Amino acid sequence: MLIRNRDTSFIAEREATPEHVFLNRRAFVAGGAALAGGLMVAGGRPAFAADTDPSASLYPAKSNPAYTIDRPVTLESANTNYNNFYEFGESKHISESAQALKIRPWSVQIGGMVDKPKEVAIDDLIKAMPLEERLYRHRCVEAWSMTVPWTGFPVKALVDFAKPLGSAKYMQVETFLDPKMAPGQKSFVYPWPYVEGLTMAEANNDLAFMVTGAYGKPLPKAMGAPLRLALPWKYGFKSAKSITKITFTDKRPTTFWQGLADNEYGFWANVNPDVPHPRWSQATEEVIGTSERRPTLIYNGYADKVASLYTDIKGENIFM
Ligand code: MTE
Repeated sequence: MLIRNRDTSFIAEREATPEHVFLNRRAFVAGGAALAGGLMVAGGRPAFAADTDPSASLYPAKSNPAYTIDRPVTLESANTNYNNFYEFGESKHISESAQALKIRPWSVQIGGMVDKPKEVAIDDLIKAMPLEERLYRHRCVEAWSMTVPWTGFPVKALVDFAKPLGSAKYMQVETFLDPKMAPGQKSFVYPWPYVEGLTMAEANNDLAFMVTGAYGKPLPKAMGAPLRLALPWKYGFKSAKSITKITFTDKRPTTFWQGLADNEYGFWANVNPDVPHPRWSQATEEVIGTSERRPTLIYNGYADKVASLYTDIKGENIFM
């Protein structure tokens, strides 16, 4: 993964969030920093398909006060213009090329070690799940970060829906494979499709989130519509986008980035400022849209919720 120049757009939460969501959230956001101004740069409207999305009426979802944050939310337009989505190119500016992503009809296959394999249409899945909004930190292995108001549902709710067998140890997720639609997939350099995986304990952790929306609307294509992961204690590459297949298995998946460079990108990929990437430090992170560099936090600030998942893992680098 390359490190590229930062975007420059950034505003306070009240300007990054639809007004009713902001006012609703204001009641419980603790700490002045969350509402303090940033570099006030007006943002243009990103290339959203939200207006025509069949799930649009489900947004904004109710905010979950357990997941707020003491730092400003990244501007929506900054976020949708600074993405990693290699299916649509290696640049950070793929929001236009990602408009080729056809997000309806869209279905998700659920199989492997499950009670009964099934295929579910995305709108049926979204309606069946308990949608809520959470503010999460988002930390890329390239040492940049954002703060994102995701909408979605706990991965655990999807696990309960899938009914995996007790013998399943991992949940593997896959992105679509369609080189005609996604020109990046024509490149033989990459081991398409994009594959990621979690242990069942990670999948069932409260923090693991399946995302269907952001900024109070259906998810923009550039951010991985219509379904992606958000695993905020791990480097961003674990959060696979545009998911079409979920497989429960007892074999640890070989992930996309491991397939490319397993000495640089591991299965665990938990954030740790004291464990450098082989080619750069992870001690600090560039806050996208600002000139700020912040110290990076162990587990990206979520140690209280996830550190216990790893106490029994010996002989592996859980921070790579
Ligand atoms: N998922 C797919 N299918 N393709 C990708 O290229 N990039 C990953 C992850 N999920 C990627 C993906 C990486 S490296 C990061 S940092 C995050 O998505 C970026 O998410 P964002 O663009 O919403 O910030």
